Amino acid sequence: MRRLDAEALQEACVEEALPWRVQVLDEVGSTSDALRDAALAGAAPGLVLFAESQTAGRGRRENRWTSSKGKDFMFSVLLRPAAPAVLWPRLTTLAALALARAVEMELPLKPQIKWPNDLYLNDRKICGLLAEAVTVNGELALVLGVGMNVNNREFPYELTGVATSLLLELNAPSVSALDRQSLALTILKLLHKQFQRMDHGFHEVIAEVRARSWLLGRQIRATVDGREVFGRALDLNAEGHLVIVLPDGSLTTLSSAEGVRQVI
Ligand code: BTN
Repeated sequence: MRRLDAEALQEACVEEALPWRVQVLDEVGSTSDALRDAALAGAAPGLVLFAESQTAGRGRRENRWTSSKGKDFMFSVLLRPAAPAVLWPRLTTLAALALARAVEMELPLKPQIKWPNDLYLNDRKICGLLAEAVTVNGELALVLGVGMNVNNREFPYELTGVATSLLLELNAPSVSALDRQSLALTILKLLHKQFQRMDHGFHEVIAEVRARSWLLGRQIRATVDGREVFGRALDLNAEGHLVIVLPDGSLTTLSSAEGVRQVI
């Protein structure tokens, strides 16, 4: 597999006037941990850390995140938006939309967004997002970690039927590997573009997310503050929060939840 070329990505970012400074590490524990440490050591926002391999990749809910060396995307972005912190939760929605659109632009695939922050293809996960706050000298910043299955063909037993990759879903026997370099640049462009929508026209963002939603219309179960919630996913509100219909017919809105899954 071709290694990601940090220099070429950086040059392209300069040419495209993107605010990113790109580094590619061969191996790291977790790009998000490394980026948080870099932030605490004084790194400015805009730093993007890719790794070809992670030895301690983390998912949400303290799950492990496994990726295939040199095949997938593991990267984290350091952000400190100028918009008020109350709007920062919008960043994961914008990132999910950017990632979905990047895949749509590069490949004949249409990922769906599984609220709150996964991407799915054919009912299986291809991408997860992990947003974590970090306080640097009293100022809040955000480390946004992205794991995307690109060229992986094999998953651990426990992920069989749950996870998939772009290559597998492309289902093109003549293609042995997708070009990660080109996809990485498209992702960097679209992340920047979508992040600019944080404080204006967010209702249009939600319409675009709604059109790609995997969850809406499904009966779901989720954990909210340690409590199990069951109902039908009805809509996303103006903030991208999930509106569900409870079994008694009343509505409730979830701003976030863990372990969201479909029940049949
Ligand atoms: C999830 O779906 O649970 C979120 C997965 C996030 C994984 C990425 S891989 C790059 C970055 N570094 C980590 O340790 N985690 C995130």
